[in-house]
Amino acid sequence: MASEFKVRPMAGSLGAEIAGVDLSKPLSNEEFSGIHQAWLDHLVIYFRNQDLTPEQHRNFALRFSKLEEHPYVEGLDGIPEIIAIVKEPEEYKNWGGPWHADVTFKEEPSIGAALYAREVPDFGGDTGFANMYLAYETLSDGMKAMIDRLEAIHDSTGYDYYNTFRSMKGKAAVGDRSTHPVVITHPETGRKALFVNRSYTTHFKDMTVAESKPLIDFLCDHASRIEFTTRLHWEPGTLGVWDNRVTMHCAIDDDFAAKNGGTGFRRVMHRATFAGQVPN
Ligand code: SIN
Repeated sequence: MASEFKVRPMAGSLGAEIAGVDLSKPLSNEEFSGIHQAWLDHLVIYFRNQDLTPEQHRNFALRFSKLEEHPYVEGLDGIPEIIAIVKEPEEYKNWGGPWHADVTFKEEPSIGAALYAREVPDFGGDTGFANMYLAYETLSDGMKAMIDRLEAIHDSTGYDYYNTFRSMKGKAAVGDRSTHPVVITHPETGRKALFVNRSYTTHFKDMTVAESKPLIDFLCDHASRIEFTTRLHWEPGTLGVWDNRVTMHCAIDDDFAAKNGGTGFRRVMHRATFAGQVPN
C-alpha cells in the first residue's frame, strides 16, 4: 500500500478505518491493491470525509467487482446498481434490522457492498457488523464436524422487509430461494466461515423448519455475540465496504423518538452492491 495510507483497526473482532485516501480521484493499481488487502484482512473497511457523486461512488465500487442491480429494489435514475436506503424522521421502519448478509437467497449472493452515508442523524443510526470467521472458528470441534456437512435453504420471504420498502421494482419478495453450505471457504483467504443469517436462512436441507430452528437460532446468536461484532458510526461522507461472504450486518434500530410516535432522525444511505459468487 502507498505509504500515505493508514489502516487503523476499529475493534478486536473486525473493521478498520483507512485514512489518507480521496476516493473521488482515480486510484493507482498499487493503491487499490492495498485497499483490497485491507478489506480481506479486516472484512469491513471505512473511509471518512469522502465527497462523492453517485458516479464516483460507482466507479470506486467497480474496482472491487462488477456491480449488480438489486432483484427487488429500483436503483437510482441512470445508476441502477446503486439503491437509496432512506428513513424519514417520522418513519419507524428500519430496513436491514435483523443480522443478515445481503441477498443470500440468490444462487450467487453478492460478495460485498459499498455503503455511502449522505445524510445521517447526529447520533444513532449505526450499522453493526459480525465476523463470521470468528463465529465458525470458536465453535467446538463436535459442532464444526456436524455443521460442516449441512446445507441450508435461504429464502427471500424469510423476512418481509422488501414488501414495505420504498422504490420497489413492482415485484415484491417472490420467494426466490437457494441452497448453500452452512460452512463456506472464502475463495481468496482460504479461511472457513459460518454462512447462515437471520433474514433468509429458513431451514436445513432435508430437515423441517421446526427441526432446524433451534440450531439456526443458536448459530445466529453465537455469531452475533458482542465480542465478534463492531459498529460503524456514520458521519456524512463516510463510505463503508464489507465482505458479504464472511460478515453479517444489521442497521441498528435506535430511533426511539420515531418509534414512540414522535419525530426522529432522517438517514439517507446509498448502497452499491458487488456482483455475486456461488458460495462453496
Ligand atoms: C443494509 O442492510 O444494507 C443496510 C444497512 C444500513 O442501512 O445500515
